[in-house]
Amino acid sequence: MVEPHPMRQTIVVPTTQAAAERATALILDIIRQAAEARQGCSISLAGGATPRPLYECLARQAVGADVPWSCVDVFYGDERDVPEDHVESNYHLTQRALLDHVPIRPSRVHPMWGAAPDIAAAAEEYERTIRRIVPAGETGIPRFDLILLGMGGDGHVASLFPDCPEILAETGKLVAGFHVPFLGRNRMSFTLPLINAARNVLLFITGEEKSPAVARLLSDAPDARRRLPACGVAPTDGTYYLVLDAAAARLAGLSPA
Ligand code: 6PG
Repeated sequence: MVEPHPMRQTIVVPTTQAAAERATALILDIIRQAAEARQGCSISLAGGATPRPLYECLARQAVGADVPWSCVDVFYGDERDVPEDHVESNYHLTQRALLDHVPIRPSRVHPMWGAAPDIAAAAEEYERTIRRIVPAGETGIPRFDLILLGMGGDGHVASLFPDCPEILAETGKLVAGFHVPFLGRNRMSFTLPLINAARNVLLFITGEEKSPAVARLLSDAPDARRRLPACGVAPTDGTYYLVLDAAAARLAGLSPA
C-alpha cells in the first residue's frame, strides 16, 4: 500500500448522505476548536456538484447548534470565470446551499473574482487578502483551519488540472490565475503550497464515477499515481481527512468500516 500521509484519516461510509453527515461533523468540530483556540476560523470551500449535499447538511445542522459562525472567514479554493450569480459559480453554489442559511457575516465571505479580465492580477489580490486575514504558520504561509476539496475524475483538486503542470509545480504563488487549455477558460485556484500549509484538509469524494481516480490516488504503483494532482495533497503539519462513500471507494478495495 502506498505510504499513506502520516496524518491521513481515510473514512469510508456506505452512502453519499452518510459521507455528508460525517464530513459535517468533522467540519463543525474544526470550527469549534479553532474558535476556542484562536477566536477565529478560516475555511475554504470547494465547488462542483459533489459538495452540495455536504453544504445542505451543514446548513441543516447549523440551525440551533452552538456553532461560532460569527468568527468564521470563508474563502474559496478555486473559482470559474463566471459572475458570482452564475449557475457555474462556486460562490453561487455555496451561497444557495450554505451561506444563506447560517449566520456568517457577509463581510467575512471572500469570493474570488473568477471573471476578472486580468485573472493573474486578481489572483495576486486574492492572495493579499488571504495574507491579511489568515494567520501565517512558521513557514510564513497562511494556515487555513480547514481547506475543503473535491476531486475530479481526472484527479484534479481545486483547479489544479493534470494539463497545467506549471501550476501544479508552483512553489511561489499561493493563489494562481491562469488559462486552462483543455477547458478554453480561465480559472483561479489555490496552489499546493497553500493547500498543504492547512491545519486540516478534507478531501470529500462520492460516487462511482470517481472510483477509478480514488483507486489511483490510493495505489502503491507510481505509474498509477503519476499525473494525478490529488496526489500532491499532503499537509505539511496538518490532518488530512479523506471522506469517501462506498461507491467512490470500491475500486480501491475499501469498504465501510
Ligand atoms: C470546481 C471544483 C473542483 C471540483 C472538482 C469535482 O471548481 O469544479 O472546485 O475542484 O471539486 O471539479 O467536481 P464535481 O464535484 O462536480 O465532480
